[in-house]
Amino acid sequence: MSKYKADEIEAFYSKDAAPEWRRMVKTPEEEVKLQVHNHYLQSYLNPGMDVLEVGAGPGRFTQTLHELGCRILVSDISMVQLAANRENAKNLGFYESVTDWVKADVTNLKSFSSDSFNAIVAYGGPLSYVFDQAERSLLECHRVLRSGGLVIASVMSLWGTLHRFFHNISSRDFSELIKTGDVTPETEPYTGHYFHMYRAEELRCVLEATGFEVIGMSASNSLSSIHIDTLENIRQDPEKWRELIGMEIEACASPGLVESGTHIIVVARKR
Ligand SMILES: C[S@@+](CC[C@H](N)C(=O)[O-])C[C@H]1O[C@@H](n2cnc3c(N)ncnc32)[C@H](O)[C@@H]1O
Repeated sequence: MSKYKADEIEAFYSKDAAPEWRRMVKTPEEEVKLQVHNHYLQSYLNPGMDVLEVGAGPGRFTQTLHELGCRILVSDISMVQLAANRENAKNLGFYESVTDWVKADVTNLKSFSSDSFNAIVAYGGPLSYVFDQAERSLLECHRVLRSGGLVIASVMSLWGTLHRFFHNISSRDFSELIKTGDVTPETEPYTGHYFHMYRAEELRCVLEATGFEVIGMSASNSLSSIHIDTLENIRQDPEKWRELIGMEIEACASPGLVESGTHIIVVARKR
């Protein structure tokens, strides 16, 4: 039986969209992650591209896609997140760039025709929430992408998450988590937040098995993840902050550090 529970994920994200809107600007550490994620949209997307955003949430990256001049179809499993996205689009001026807001689960993109998009953006873990349904989801992404189209996604990282939360290591047994990469109601009964954490090689394998070529991988974030106390000070100095972001972007893409952040960003092209 699949570990993916669509109803529970939908319910989790339908409680309130406000925390999700604040998430990536809440702390300097999250701001670093926002910049690293934005870097990949800025590097690979061009004005006029048709982009399907999967698991768009309230629109932190819909706004970036608008700034890049893309035509965006916003989708999410939660109507609450979609409503927040539409509201933010009206209030923040990206409404005109969105062609529609559609409720859709990444495991089944039947609302969308084949060969329709230049790129799919799935940031913030939709491919982690679907557990063993990732392959099916990526086959759907492959179907709706045009030839040479891109998937730009981020998933939860196994080693990076343990790296970031290493201080908890003495308080519990991580062996099952390390073996499966799965955070489930059995391992974490109290969080209500269940997802699969990837190893970089595993992510590459599932993309290659579904007809993609991986052309970029990055951590989010790396260097700054263990020095979060110093970030607030650096944040006060715009020049130092710019330098830090540049350094992070380079470090995060270094093969030795790709698994060192809480997330792995991947860019893959439809073969
Ligand atoms: C952590 S939020 C990320 C939101 C946004 N992409 C970002 O990075 O700021 C995850 C989003 O994915 C959506 N989601 C989770 N599982 C999904 C699925 N199977 N299909 C589509 N959307 C999903 C949730 O409703 C939520 O809005």
